[in-house]
Amino acid sequence: MIDKSSTLLLSDPPQEASREQQAVSKLYISQVCKNFQLKGHKTLCAVSSVSFEVQQSEICILLGPSGCGKSTILRMVAGLESISAGRILLDRQPITGPGRDRGMVFQSYTSFPWLTVKQNVEYGLRVNGHSRAERQDITNHFIDRVRLTPFKDAYPDQLSGGMRQRVAIARALANGPEILLMDEPFGALDPETRWQMQELLLDIVRMENMTVLMVTHDVDEALFLADKILFLSSHPGTVRERIPAPLQNSAKPTTKESMYEIPEYINLQKKIMHLMREVTYDPTS
Ligand SMILES: Nc1ncnc2c1ncn2[C@@H]1O[C@H](COP(=O)(O)OP(=O)(O)OP(=O)(O)O)[C@@H](O)[C@H]1O
Ligand SMILES: [Mg+2]
Repeated sequence: MIDKSSTLLLSDPPQEASREQQAVSKLYISQVCKNFQLKGHKTLCAVSSVSFEVQQSEICILLGPSGCGKSTILRMVAGLESISAGRILLDRQPITGPGRDRGMVFQSYTSFPWLTVKQNVEYGLRVNGHSRAERQDITNHFIDRVRLTPFKDAYPDQLSGGMRQRVAIARALANGPEILLMDEPFGALDPETRWQMQELLLDIVRMENMTVLMVTHDVDEALFLADKILFLSSHPGTVRERIPAPLQNSAKPTTKESMYEIPEYINLQKKIMHLMREVTYDPTS
C-alpha cells in the first residue's frame, strides 16, 4: 500500500469545476463517460466519470495500465470518438468532431511515404489554402524546430524511426493547433532515441508555448515531460490519482540525467511504480 501522507499525490478528484475554472482552462473535461456497444446488446464501459483540466502551455500525461481508456480519452478529445456522457471543452467550445485546433501524433509513423519531409509538413497548410510564401515560412520553421533541415527533401523510408516521428510532430505543429494530442508517440523507438525525442519535445513545447495531452506507459517519460500526471485505473477507466510534477515549466529538468538528481522525482517514480503494481493484474497470485 502507498503511504499517501508522504506523497505529492492530490487526494480526491475535484467536483464539477467552477465557471471561472472552465473559463481559464485550455481543455476542460467534466464527468466524461464512454460506453462501447458490443455484440449481443452488451455494453462496455471503457471510461467512467473522468474529469480533469489542462491549462495553456501545460503538458498533461495520461498514464495507466493497458486497456484503462487512455487512447479512448485522447480520441474523444480529438473528436474521433463520441462521448456517452459529460462535457469536453477546448477554449470553452464543446468538441463536436475533428478539427484543425487539435494536432495528433500517434505511435505508428503516419507520414505520407510518397511525399518528402517538406511536402509532408506542408500538406495541411496546402489543404487549408495558405499562400506559397506562408507555406514556405511555416514549413521551414517547423522543420528547423525538429532539426530536420538537412533532410527536408528526403522521403520517409530514407529516415530513422525517430526522424519520422519528428516529421509527424512538425506536421502537426505546422497546422497551428491549440493543443497537441499524442498517443504513445515514442513507443516504437529504441531507448536512446526515445529520451532524445523527449528532450526535443520539451524544448519545442517551451519554444512554441504549446499545450499537450499525451498518453504513455513509460513512468520515466511521464515524470520527465509532465506538469501533471493523471494516473488511471481500469474497468472502467477512471482517474485514480492526480500527480503534480514537483517542478513546473521552466523550472523542470531539461535532461533525463538531471531529473535523476532531484529526490522528489525519484520518490514520485517509486509511488507511481507502486500504483502500477496495485492496478496491474498479477499472474502469479
Ligand atoms: N471501438 C471499440 N469498440 C469496443 N471496445 C473498444 C473500442 N475501443 C476501445 N475499446 C475498449 O475500451 C477499453 C479502453 O481501450 P483503450 O484503447 O482506450 O485503452 P488504452 O488505455 O489506450 O490501452 P493501451 O495502453 O493498451 O493502448 C478497452 O477495454 C478496449 O477493449
Ligand atoms: Mg492506447
